[in-house]
Amino acid sequence: MNVVIPVSLGTRSYDIHVGPDLMAEAGRLLKPFAHGPVPVVTDTNVAFLHLDRFLGVLHDAGIAAKPIILDAGEGTKSFAWLERLMPQLLASGVDRGGLIVALGGGVIGDLTGFAAGILKRGVAFAQIPTTLLSQVDSSVGGKTAINVPEGKNLVGVFHQPSIVIADTNMLGTLPRRELLSGYAELVKTAALGNEAYFSWLEAHASDALNGKPEAIVHAVAEACRMKAAIVARDEREAGERALLNLGHTFGHALETATGFSDRLLHGEGVAIGMALAFRLSAKLGLCPQGDVDRLLAHLKATGLPSEIADIPGERPSAEVLIAAMSHDKKAKDGKLIFVLARGIGQTFVSADVPVDAVREVLG
Ligand code: GLY
Repeated sequence: MNVVIPVSLGTRSYDIHVGPDLMAEAGRLLKPFAHGPVPVVTDTNVAFLHLDRFLGVLHDAGIAAKPIILDAGEGTKSFAWLERLMPQLLASGVDRGGLIVALGGGVIGDLTGFAAGILKRGVAFAQIPTTLLSQVDSSVGGKTAINVPEGKNLVGVFHQPSIVIADTNMLGTLPRRELLSGYAELVKTAALGNEAYFSWLEAHASDALNGKPEAIVHAVAEACRMKAAIVARDEREAGERALLNLGHTFGHALETATGFSDRLLHGEGVAIGMALAFRLSAKLGLCPQGDVDRLLAHLKATGLPSEIADIPGERPSAEVLIAAMSHDKKAKDGKLIFVLARGIGQTFVSADVPVDAVREVLG
């Protein structure tokens, strides 16, 4: 049932492995990259669930792992934690020909990838994503970053991993809300460019979300396959890669307006953001209402939010959201950038959207 997806980037090419219980294979898969001591960066939650077993399989493969356990939570994606991590990486003895492993969700992957990208001017790293969101999105494609007070992900580098190992059994320990939040990125990948995959999700979402091995492996592998193809064509987001931001202009504004709090997880913002992007596309006469309804029906069927009103607490006003969007790093020359749709699986980037139409869908 295991799937291997190549990411074709010349000398920076690598494979994404997706399968149930790939943890058991991690030693064998990492061995060719592991020269010398291998720091394994993780967080307290993942360490509690998976670290002992992971260290055991590395030990069995003859890999000298050096665990580094950081606090769990978005706050760890910061300069303060980077400053704590760097001396620990240096002390581990890893050198430029060595390997650093990121074992965790998006926060650990983004921080560790960034640290690996700048340590000794670049050390190879491996991604072992443990959340659905990181398995289908953040571990693939080489974007690494930390957050700064000016905004999320504003300091970072492109640094491709040497291998990605997505063990879908690890998703079994995720709280349902976090699993669904990752699922929103999966729906995004289908909605932006693959109607057949979207139809498959409509039929199989509940099997995938309930951890049926074949369904969850296929769901994750298809998202990785699509993302790998986009990244191979546009590694540095000069064009097509921006489609992966479907739902993110609205979603990010909603996250900003709700203070990046527990009221709205990232994927929930993306789900509502996607629904708004499709509604906006219909309002502009680009997308049939039937496709908007189809997207909304799927989000609702899985239990994801699809309306601003689904966010608990006070509703953010259209003006607050528009102001947040104009500070977004995706805004260019004062213009808001949206990914718009002509239908499910057919999207494009537009910097040409009248603010009045945006205000209307937010109202
Ligand atoms: N998460 C969007 C990208 O990797 O481009």
